Amino acid sequence: MKPRHFLTLLDLSPTELKEVIANAIELKKQLKHGEINDSFKNRVLGMIFEKSSTRTRVSFEAGMTQLGGSALFLSPRDTQLGRGEPIEDSARVLSSMVDQVMIRTFGHNIVERFAKYSSVPVINALTDDFHPCQLLADVQTYVEHRGQPSGKTVAWIGDGNNMCQSYINAARQWDFQLNIACPKGFEPNAELMQANKERIKLVHDPIEAIRGADWVSTDVWASMGQEAEQKEREQAFAGYMVDHELMSHANSGAVFMHCLPAHRGEEVSAELIEDQQLSVVWDEAENRLHSQKALMLFLSQHSGQ
Ligand code: CP
Ligand code: NVA
Repeated sequence: MKPRHFLTLLDLSPTELKEVIANAIELKKQLKHGEINDSFKNRVLGMIFEKSSTRTRVSFEAGMTQLGGSALFLSPRDTQLGRGEPIEDSARVLSSMVDQVMIRTFGHNIVERFAKYSSVPVINALTDDFHPCQLLADVQTYVEHRGQPSGKTVAWIGDGNNMCQSYINAARQWDFQLNIACPKGFEPNAELMQANKERIKLVHDPIEAIRGADWVSTDVWASMGQEAEQKEREQAFAGYMVDHELMSHANSGAVFMHCLPAHRGEEVSAELIEDQQLSVVWDEAENRLHSQKALMLFLSQHSGQ
């Protein structure tokens, strides 16, 4: 049986994604009630991190432990990956020893090449192009607070980055409208936008994007790997901070999300992120744990493991 991978949200059907979210909500309840679920007893997750992480590392590692398995943190600094061993060789070797592999890296082609040669499921834990695991947590959070997102309007304010591009895929899979506001020159991938043009509106005015929105999301202006552009980006993104004034143009009951880490006073105001009525960022972060446990169980079940 061929392994199922999760490199983008399009690797699962809309029905399968709904199933994962429903199970994430169930697993969260189980955990809160102290019920033991050791479905992954003796299973091992390999975790390759070529970029920093707090939430992703801890949620995957804690999630595997809670399911009775374990996780291996693999840094390129102390594996042969960092000394140029080919991805294809690493994929064949690692997948002969562990049950799933999670990768956070730069080029999206790295996770694609790894998956091609892996005999076990591969999960994209962030590339320069996509961050699909974060969207599982975001959707779970919206469902828990407001119900299903289909038919709703989501506003993305900021960079057309890996998070924004995952929101584009999410709009397709969960059938919502996505309004994107980004400065000129910071738009998401043109082909991706073209392929989803029925569901996307691209503007350069944050107020125009947020009008009628039920859910507002943003992210840092300079992603990992773009540290040298920080100053230049701060200038380009002036006027794109999500704060109470901007949120006042959204629908009443709109929620604010941010994948974190956040830069207060840049893409989000300190007051908004701490506003317990509007901001659901802490639930969103916690849901990385529950939604990824559901994802790993799904991939395992559908890969004949
Ligand atoms: N949101 C997110 O992926 O956080 P980390 O970079 O801390 O993993
Ligand atoms: N766009 C950010 C997301 C961090 C979770 C980055 O890639 O650094």
